[in-house]
Amino acid sequence: MRKLLPSLFQRDRGEQLPPEDRIIGVSRQAMSDDRYVAIAEEGMRRHMKPDEFDPAVWDRFSGRLHHAAIDATGESGWPELAETLGAAPDRVRMFYLATAPDLFGPICERLQAAGLVTEQSRVVLEKPIGHDLYSARCINERVGAVFSEHQIFRIDHYVGKETVQNLMALRFANALFQPLWNSTSIDHVQITVAETIGVESRGGYYDHSGALRDMVQNHLLQLLCLVAMEPPLHLDKDSVRDEKLKVLRALKPIGRDEVPACTVRGQYRAGAVDGAAVRGYLEESGIAADSDTETFVALKVELQNWRWTGVPFYLRTGKRLQQKASEIVIQFKPVPYSIFPPTSGELAANRLVLRLQPDEAVRLHLMAKEPGPGGMRLREVPLNLSFAETFKHPVSDAYVRLLGDVVRGDPTLFMRRDEVEAAWVWTESILEAWQTRGEPPKPYIAGTWGPSTAIAMIERDGRTWHEDVGDGR
Ligand code: BG6
Repeated sequence: MRKLLPSLFQRDRGEQLPPEDRIIGVSRQAMSDDRYVAIAEEGMRRHMKPDEFDPAVWDRFSGRLHHAAIDATGESGWPELAETLGAAPDRVRMFYLATAPDLFGPICERLQAAGLVTEQSRVVLEKPIGHDLYSARCINERVGAVFSEHQIFRIDHYVGKETVQNLMALRFANALFQPLWNSTSIDHVQITVAETIGVESRGGYYDHSGALRDMVQNHLLQLLCLVAMEPPLHLDKDSVRDEKLKVLRALKPIGRDEVPACTVRGQYRAGAVDGAAVRGYLEESGIAADSDTETFVALKVELQNWRWTGVPFYLRTGKRLQQKASEIVIQFKPVPYSIFPPTSGELAANRLVLRLQPDEAVRLHLMAKEPGPGGMRLREVPLNLSFAETFKHPVSDAYVRLLGDVVRGDPTLFMRRDEVEAAWVWTESILEAWQTRGEPPKPYIAGTWGPSTAIAMIERDGRTWHEDVGDGR
């Protein structure tokens, strides 16, 4: 209701769905198509902006919606689904599995047994792919026994976000940055994905997952890969993913002894977000009263390769933080020597900020002379590329792009099996180190920037979190 149907609706609105396309919602519960359409309409109206919900398109779109009751791990419902879909080996079918990961294998096997897997079928797997390396491998094996790798789309919606796509354009369609994109010119990189929401209705899932598995293993690592990868040979599925894989393999494991200096785990307590009082994590529904699941993570990450050795990547993500803001900050080194007198003001090092959301933008912070007849007074100013102002085109949701790629059969922006497994290898180093130390997460008040230890972590290195996102206090 929030992402998938609105994205398909947007495609329909753009006349990009052929008239015969159908969308079949599947759940265990039996319900008529009319009932499903009513639920979909209510949910979509709630999540979409009024001007996006075009009633004329809804008339057409609602006619595509059907419902099927299926028991994912049992027998019931599969023959009926096969009958509804009919034998059409040349039609593209997208099976989108928004389920718990332990159902991915069983569902694929049932699809095969029902005769629904053809060369034109694709399966989309939502993250997380498993809970750890072992479970990810098991899932990949089982799904891989039914679908070929080119039919498997492991979705990470962060990679489909416009500004993330723009990172590739910025890096590889401009000569300007490439000579500077290394440890000679870059001091450090920050990647922040801050959310104001809590665990919402997903307590049962989240409490077994936590921020490291839910956000870092996938979204933040994908962002890191796109910042750090070497130029791919082409913009195609294997060239891009080969380069991302090399980055994942270059991640320096974080062992038990590095935990205090390189990792911060936090868990929110009751507080206020956007002026409204909110509960603490332990009071949320579906959460164990003594849970030590982290809702905040900050990490200092290093890459062991020629380009990046010596450049720390500071990552942080959390729920119930002060603002919803996701950004990548490339902090360049300062000028080697200042020719300006102290009265000119302090020289701030250049900074490139990619704002992923909200207010998608790319900003290059430069030093400039303040206008006026007085002496040389310098000030930091941004060269601001705001997507809304420049392109006068609303930024569409990542799923609009990604679902289109699935239909076209282009997995470039989806995670390949070896990528997912390499990301788990590194993530497990942290999970194991945390487990052996057995320290509970640090509490933080909802509506702040997380535990103060996250600020201390970066300040120990003489650096600060980028201030547009918040000073962290
Ligand atoms: C999901 C996580 O993958 O991404 C959620 O499971 C998180 O916990 C969400 O809230 C964030 O996505 P976005 O696009 O709203 O930043």
